[in-house]
Amino acid sequence: MNILITGATGYIGSHTLIALCEAGFTPILLDNFCNSKRVILPRLEAQTKQSLKFYEGDILDVQLLKRIFTEQKIDAVIHFAALKAVGESTQKPLEYYQNNVAGCLNLLTIMKTHHVKRFIFSSSATVYGDPASVPIQEHFPRASTSPYGRGKLIIEEILEDLIKAESDWSITLLRYFNPIGAHESGQFGEDPQGIPNNLTPYITQVAIGNLEKVQVFGNDYPTPDGTGIRDYIHVMDLAEGHIAALKICASKAGLHIYNLGTGRGYSVLEVITAFSNAVNQADSTKSGSTKAIPYEIKPRRAGDIAECWADPTRAQKDLNWSAQRNLNQMAQDAWRWQTQNPKGYE
Ligand code: NAD
Ligand code: UFG
Repeated sequence: MNILITGATGYIGSHTLIALCEAGFTPILLDNFCNSKRVILPRLEAQTKQSLKFYEGDILDVQLLKRIFTEQKIDAVIHFAALKAVGESTQKPLEYYQNNVAGCLNLLTIMKTHHVKRFIFSSSATVYGDPASVPIQEHFPRASTSPYGRGKLIIEEILEDLIKAESDWSITLLRYFNPIGAHESGQFGEDPQGIPNNLTPYITQVAIGNLEKVQVFGNDYPTPDGTGIRDYIHVMDLAEGHIAALKICASKAGLHIYNLGTGRGYSVLEVITAFSNAVNQADSTKSGSTKAIPYEIKPRRAGDIAECWADPTRAQKDLNWSAQRNLNQMAQDAWRWQTQNPKGYE
């Protein structure tokens, strides 16, 4: 199967691309490099041992989409391309809706014209808003707390309308929890621009000495240690979830919705401890000394919720998929990526 991957050079897209090639799929890549770097391409070709078909461009460029669908035989689309900074989305709502919602509509319209009706969409646990209880199941009510999250929710609703109107589509919504970690080779990982918004890239930047201390956003949540709890999932487990979804769902028409998480939550302090351990373990061969990653408690961050973790049972049952890698492995792989690439892909 030939799979068009939008946002293919981004964090999750690049890891999924590697897993896709290993599973024998043929990828066709599209990205405009608004949040990724061109230099990842030779690395991806070395890792996958193949010459990759890559289109540089924007999902807002309808002519380019037409060209891709005319030039290539595409069997399914995995749609990662989006802007993803929750805070920024509150400052630039129109840019977010334009890029994420209008871009997705362009893609679906071209797909329909070319009779390509298998679609996997990168959704997010953010569509559950502040859940009434955890673990979160797929039927829980949806809500949105930011233009970014509202965009995901709007696209989910558009896809629901589409399947009602045209039942021959196979549409899969994968709701990611908190993807972290890196490819075990140390060659691929998360490469945020500027100061990271997310917890684990911030932690590795502190550990490597680029930032002074981790800011822990709130220790007065109703959780055992007072800090926020999330379901962190290794990015390669997440990547493998896409392969399972392609294999199982693509042959079945209808709307398929899955949580991709581990089913376990960790607090911010537990994550900092896991990363301190990973750093010490990696360094012990060199220095023998141990050190903790420094942090300070700050006020809560606006829009954050106390806890969020998945019930991944449906994905286990239907897709025969479950996350295999634990928090220690996520921390070790993230640290290997950080130390081997102190400036990311540059
Ligand atoms: P990322 O920013 O690393 O990757 C997105 C890629 O899409 C980037 O390479 C960017 O250059 C590209 N892109 C953005 N807009 C584009 C456009 N208009 N045309 C072409 N390319 C475009 O982000 P990621 O972490 O890999 O996230 C991938 C998807 O998963 C996104 O849809 C995101 O919303 C979703 N998601 C991410 C997380 C997370 O924590 N990383 C959690 C839940 C859902
Ligand atoms: N946190 C800190 N300090 C930081 C950054 C984060 O204490 O510097 C805390 C947050 O308060 C939260 C936890 O660490 O309790 C995780 O925060 P992240 O920013 O890493 O991730 P979020 O859970 O806020 O959001 C992520 C993605 C969203 C996605 C959501 C659900 O960034 O795009 O997971 O999938 F919607």
